[in-house]
Amino acid sequence: MKSNTRIPGIPGHLLGLAVALAVALAVALAVALGVTCEAQDSPIYKEAYRPQFHFTPAKNWMNDPNGMVYYDGEWHLFYQFNPFGEKWGHMSWAHAVSKDLVHWEHLPLALAEENGVMIFSGSAVIDWNNTSGFGKDGKPPMVAIYTGHYTGKPLQNQQIAYSNDRGRTWTKYEGNPVIDINQENFRDPKVLWHEATRQWVMAVSLPTARKVRFYGSADLKSWSQLSDFGPAGSTTGIWECPDLFPLPVEGTDQQKWVLVVNVGGGAPAGGSGCQYLVGDFDGKAFTVHEPSQPRPQPAFVPEGTVFADFENGFGDWKIEGDAFGNVPATGAVDGQQAVDGFLGKGFANSFHGGDRTTGKLTSPDFEIDHKAISFLIGGGAHDTNTCINLVVDGKVIRSAEGDAVERLDWKSWDVSVLKGKRARIEIVDRWMEGWGHINVDQILFADEPAKPATNPALWADYGRDFYAAVSWSDVPKEDGRRVWLGWMSNWQYAQDIPTSPWRSGMTVARTLSLRKVGDAYRLLQRPSKELEQIRGAGQIAENVSLADAVTLLNETESELLDVELTVPAGAPFELSLIKPDSGVAPILIDTTKGILSFDRTKFGDTRFHSDFPGIHISPLRAVDGKVTLRLLIDVASIEIFANSGESVISDLVFPKPGPWQFGFAYKGEGAPPKVERIAVYPLRSTWP
Ligand code: FRU
Repeated sequence: MKSNTRIPGIPGHLLGLAVALAVALAVALAVALGVTCEAQDSPIYKEAYRPQFHFTPAKNWMNDPNGMVYYDGEWHLFYQFNPFGEKWGHMSWAHAVSKDLVHWEHLPLALAEENGVMIFSGSAVIDWNNTSGFGKDGKPPMVAIYTGHYTGKPLQNQQIAYSNDRGRTWTKYEGNPVIDINQENFRDPKVLWHEATRQWVMAVSLPTARKVRFYGSADLKSWSQLSDFGPAGSTTGIWECPDLFPLPVEGTDQQKWVLVVNVGGGAPAGGSGCQYLVGDFDGKAFTVHEPSQPRPQPAFVPEGTVFADFENGFGDWKIEGDAFGNVPATGAVDGQQAVDGFLGKGFANSFHGGDRTTGKLTSPDFEIDHKAISFLIGGGAHDTNTCINLVVDGKVIRSAEGDAVERLDWKSWDVSVLKGKRARIEIVDRWMEGWGHINVDQILFADEPAKPATNPALWADYGRDFYAAVSWSDVPKEDGRRVWLGWMSNWQYAQDIPTSPWRSGMTVARTLSLRKVGDAYRLLQRPSKELEQIRGAGQIAENVSLADAVTLLNETESELLDVELTVPAGAPFELSLIKPDSGVAPILIDTTKGILSFDRTKFGDTRFHSDFPGIHISPLRAVDGKVTLRLLIDVASIEIFANSGESVISDLVFPKPGPWQFGFAYKGEGAPPKVERIAVYPLRSTWP
């Protein structure tokens, strides 16, 4: 099995033939028993951590939103679903509909895994002109375009299915696949009708190449390649679930195109996240609006002493095991994916014999005589199992691992307090499965740390729980909105979150637009207005102290809250979410440092996964001398929208049940600022 092409967080999902057969049997059995025909109903919706105004399946595993389309008064939400368990597997499309984007009705499974082909992510459109010929009785068909993921061989291709009864039942097209380029990683087609060139356009991703490929079609069946876009912006992780749509620029009659690329790894909060690029699309290719895209920064390498560059063998290093070979590698070995980022010709690479082999390189002893030790590192992200260690007095006192990408990049340790100590360095590969290898080069002793080049990107959300976001298709012209939502989880820990009998929820639906900021365009996300229907009586106050605003919040005594807050810029403060027995989670609002952050390190259950705790930071600026905030707080999540959703943080939290409480701490000088306006609304559950 190739380790470096898997979906983040889904170890070895390219199943062997035996497993594929077992799956086929299980599915056949389930169909016979009627499992796949049952609506995802009978919700109890009172379990621990069950979101009350966010979409969740009644039971089992969910990931990406799929096939989002509006038709005949219904917002359709299909989604990646495992009908058989609470972890990823047997991916199929489940189905729900809503008349208001807030209350959802669960419907029977729409498209099931069948004959060794899982139904991976994709989109749906209404074929108004019946270009596909799938229409019936003068009514347009709903057409789903999805990725067929083969469980018995390394293949993903694009397939279609259609429905003549408002998405309730589906027929897979007998001419499938409609696009097959014989690739292991080729997925997540998003289709739109491009009116100017009167054709269907598909954006589909080549995840490991960090590219979005565009195809055009007249009938949704026969597709021809238009262009490729990428790599661009964030390229550390793999590219998944693209979307492409025009958006209005607020306060003008202009529009710009937005290309959304969900990135599996390397997001600012850690793990998977959603980047967007602003530009133009002419029916053939997407071009970036350069002033909107943050500029890449080159790497910084300080003056210092190179301790090891692996240019002339392993020298005095001790070699154990087979994984590193006898001499340094000069590139990829044994079928490894392309490796880059090393300097000169040689580097240490433990992929000899694939991921299964293990081994260790140990340096000669040396004395620590600089403040920093930097190195280039790539490969596995398995903590103490694929890593480089600094050993002093027989103990590992500094360690670093790869990021599950082959490319080597700078990382460093601050060793200023260790000056004068005897030490050695070890490069360790103890992991035998996916990403069971490590790449290291250019170990450098210097007084400053080396810094990696940055490929900054625009992120729709700086929290850790917003992924695979895609927008609804076919929203009527009279409505005119572009609305989306995302999967509220992260591949780093999604399969371990402490909920049952379901896992994962969606964010609230958000309405999108663009704002011109200087020369650049920035995405705005506002909770869609329908959410206001579930507000209870609001408490509103103007020109009050922070203390009074917090009192108002505490008086609301609700577990579900919608809060609006306007504060003057330049007066940094923390507003903390508190639950007795669960700790404190501060939100920092600081335009002097230009940041908005949410800290869930000391709040509720964080122990189920080491990647879960964290402080997540978004850029934040003053808009007209103010910051406006909107907080949506459910039983187990918070969504923070600042300045009309120019800065957004969406995060899960797992505190004990009970009403939320709040506290504040002023972080500036002098008297705390007045709150210009606060409005607090308890929300009602959207589930019966
Ligand atoms: C993104 C993703 C998609 C894929 C789906 C499989 O979260 O990895 O690329 O189609 O999940 O469930």
